[in-house]
Amino acid sequence: MFNDLKIDRSRPVYLQIKDYLKELIFSGLLQAGMRLPSTRELSAVLQVSRNTVIQAYQYLEDDGFIRIIKGQGAFIAFETEDTAHTGLQLDWEHLMSKYALMATELDVEKKELKWKKGMLSFKSIAPDPELFELEDVKRAFLNRLACEGKKLLNYGYAQGYKPLLEYLQTYMKNKGVKIEGKALLITNGFTEGLNLVIRALTKPGDQVICENPTHNTALKIMRLSGLEIKGIPMSLDGLELKQLEACLDQQQIRFGFLIPSYHNPTGLVMSPEKRQVVLEIFQKYRVPIVEDGFNEELRYSGAHVAPLIALAGESNNVIYIGSFSKILFPGIRVGWIMADERLIAYLESIKRAHNIHTSSVDQGLLYEYLQDGRLDKYLKKVRRVYRQRHQMAVALAKTYIPDCRVWGEGGLHIFIELALNLNARQVLDECYRQGVVFMPGDIFFTDRSGENTFRLSISRVTPEMMETGFKIIGDVVKQVMKQLN
Ligand SMILES: Cc1ncc(COP(=O)(O)O)c(C=O)c1O
Repeated sequence: MFNDLKIDRSRPVYLQIKDYLKELIFSGLLQAGMRLPSTRELSAVLQVSRNTVIQAYQYLEDDGFIRIIKGQGAFIAFETEDTAHTGLQLDWEHLMSKYALMATELDVEKKELKWKKGMLSFKSIAPDPELFELEDVKRAFLNRLACEGKKLLNYGYAQGYKPLLEYLQTYMKNKGVKIEGKALLITNGFTEGLNLVIRALTKPGDQVICENPTHNTALKIMRLSGLEIKGIPMSLDGLELKQLEACLDQQQIRFGFLIPSYHNPTGLVMSPEKRQVVLEIFQKYRVPIVEDGFNEELRYSGAHVAPLIALAGESNNVIYIGSFSKILFPGIRVGWIMADERLIAYLESIKRAHNIHTSSVDQGLLYEYLQDGRLDKYLKKVRRVYRQRHQMAVALAKTYIPDCRVWGEGGLHIFIELALNLNARQVLDECYRQGVVFMPGDIFFTDRSGENTFRLSISRVTPEMMETGFKIIGDVVKQVMKQLN
């Protein structure tokens, strides 16, 4: 005993000794009443300073694991329960709620083909971390902590960190939003925002509208909430308005979830004219719109298109959910909801019940980063890079993938539609064998259609990777076409 501890010099040694002795106590090798070696003896065995062992013993005494008796030594004070005989093994599968089972079933991370080392991945639309301005972030973090670190480390407000709320209010005003009567709530990204809105507005069995296809995480959240999802088809021109109106006319819809800018997965941008008509239709039926503005700032070309919440003016039926996940850093998990202040008051209470508030440290860091105009500088850079990758992706897809339609005007991905009789999962399986992975399109469809579609992310790939990967995809598509003929 005691000489099998391998010391890692990069970590505090007293902590390693403390953890090692605790392990011996929990395993029953050291039992209540037993005397530990003297600090001198143990330091000689472990070849560390005596002070290091004294420190470890002191912490063990503070935690109540040992008792140090002056002149006699250190004794184990902790009685380890003998749990081995009980050996209880709960069958967790049978204890799971319907929600847990469904969340697992709908978990794309677990269910879809995984990227393996060495593979070319066009799967995730996470931003390119090489573009992050880490030095600016570090400086912002240190500055904000220096200004009000103690405040940020304590509990904050459910609605959010005040300076960030003020920043976002101006930010939304600059998008043309009439902010009178509206309020903001900071959330843990878009994902929490949508969950909160669903909690506030729906109960299981309610009907909601969304574009078909749509963001797969939004679909998952709606399904998990027991909602009946009415998918409105999209053409290259966007949402099919006649079907939208018919649905609102015939059903009791609680809200419509829309991604008007750089829609995921199609990459479409709803035209200003269409936005007006969509607003009028929803207003005619007095139904709220949940607008997902996640990608809005990644505009590559063309004039600014106002979000629905801005076009709605003083109307209060648009609930805007924003996120910094694509325009900055998803790891920070900060998003926001802007909506009628009466609705925000309810959402604030729901949020408080869920998680008290979003991390104030993250909000503080973000605020410090944003307030210096760093976002504009960063966006200028990333737009240029992503625009080039997007243009290249469209050109390469058209070159290499036969008989396909390439959807999308921007965003961090392109959406590919193959001939109707082709199955994208069959293409994916063969591509996977050849070291290429992407998202099959059916996961984005409300009715699991879209079997002939798939999404290719372009955010983290070089032109060479695109060239190689798209060529493999194209060759596999040709091969599958040949098998069918
Ligand atoms: C349509 C859409 N909305 C929002 C988000 C961002 O979600 P979050 O802010 O929770 O990271 C994504 C991320 O992929 C998305 O595709």
